[in-house]
Amino acid sequence: MARILLTGATGLIGGAVLHHALDRGDDTQWVCLVRCGSVEQGRQRVASRLERFTDPFTAQRLARKVEIVPGDFTRADLDMDPRLDDCTHVLHLAADTSWFGDERVYRTNHDGTLALARRARSMPGLVRFLHVGTAMICGSNAPNVVEERAYPAADANHIVAYTISKAATETSLAELFPDLPVVIARPSIVVGHSTLGAAPSSSILWVVRAADRLRMLPCAPESAVDIVPADWVAETLVGLLTKSELAHNLYHVSAGTGGRTRWADVIDAFEAAEPTDGMRAFTQFDLQRDRSTLRKRFAEVFGLDGALKQVMLRATRAYYVFCALDLAFSNQRLLDEGFAPPPSLPSYLPVCLANSAGIVEQFADDMEMFSVAATPAPVDPMPLAATA
Ligand SMILES: NC(=O)c1ccc[n+]([C@@H]2O[C@H](COP(=O)([O-])OP(=O)(O)OC[C@H]3O[C@@H](n4cnc5c(N)ncnc54)[C@H](OP(=O)(O)O)[C@@H]3O)[C@@H](O)[C@H]2O)c1
Repeated sequence: MARILLTGATGLIGGAVLHHALDRGDDTQWVCLVRCGSVEQGRQRVASRLERFTDPFTAQRLARKVEIVPGDFTRADLDMDPRLDDCTHVLHLAADTSWFGDERVYRTNHDGTLALARRARSMPGLVRFLHVGTAMICGSNAPNVVEERAYPAADANHIVAYTISKAATETSLAELFPDLPVVIARPSIVVGHSTLGAAPSSSILWVVRAADRLRMLPCAPESAVDIVPADWVAETLVGLLTKSELAHNLYHVSAGTGGRTRWADVIDAFEAAEPTDGMRAFTQFDLQRDRSTLRKRFAEVFGLDGALKQVMLRATRAYYVFCALDLAFSNQRLLDEGFAPPPSLPSYLPVCLANSAGIVEQFADDMEMFSVAATPAPVDPMPLAATA
């Protein structure tokens, strides 16, 4: 019987994992390491995340099925709680996902993961430690089709401090923990839920909607982004965690060349869902040269009154950098393992739009990612490249 230690249960993908896994009702034991003052408080935090996927009654029922261990994964090596000892699998999702936190992000994601890996050494029955990284460790100078094995790479031009921390974590896990059964999964860009739309999270969805409302793209409509829904990511991660044999120890969890989303198809999907009688004309602009054009257009569409809108403009610029990269993350390894490919964003965009709040409200839900701890925000590919 599998006993799975899950970090990040209160986050987007963690909630999707628990919703998917607990609903199936097999005899797997889920042990959630949650930041909380007591077991009951931790359970309520998990239940409140699950409520984004189901009704409150079911969320409470599902949350009762998990074991809560109050704790912080960055201090897991000091946590001698015996309930961790007999875990057979670790699914490590927890991370500081804010883009500009710099030192704090590195401490949490890199140093914290190594602390968890040290704790995993005293789990004698451990068969897999699935660490969740990000496909974006490839940086801004990657080829259009990114292969797993090419990264981490010393010459990657990192756009944000978050990806530096994730790349360094992979390197350190490989160097320092060859004795652990580590497998790395790197999701691409997680947007929405294929059947619940925006209910579980509007993270990043607001950017796609803002681009549509601005009618401005920093790239040709033929270029593409690699987007996947949270439910598919959750199901695939559980599969990677529990499949008895894997051919590799590193996988993109991505749409790949076969499933990447072309902007032209996103525009068509918006037009089908919110018709404008063919008036959806997009301008292609240059992120560096046309900064003031974007600012002006943003002010016209959303207004620039107040701190929230200022941060939203900054976040839009930052996301546009990623949108312009025209990347697909090869998912051949995943497909070869027998996993199903993800549904494409245009196919489930109507579901996301049907239960979306306003774009600015959706951004407010995502704003934590853009908090600045110590350093100013790098919004173009160059500033952090020298430190990568
Ligand atoms: N979402 C994406 O588009 C995407 C794409 C690629 C990769 N990923 C990776 O997938 C993973 C999950 O992402 P997500 O979007 O679900 O993140 P998220 O919604 O931001 O959730 C982050 C989770 O990490 C937990 N956490 C952070 N610091 C912690 C600590 N010190 N101790 C215990 N828990 C801590 C948070 O707990 P609290 O609730 O206590 O803060 C929360 O449960 C991350 O590793 C991320 O890098 C995500």
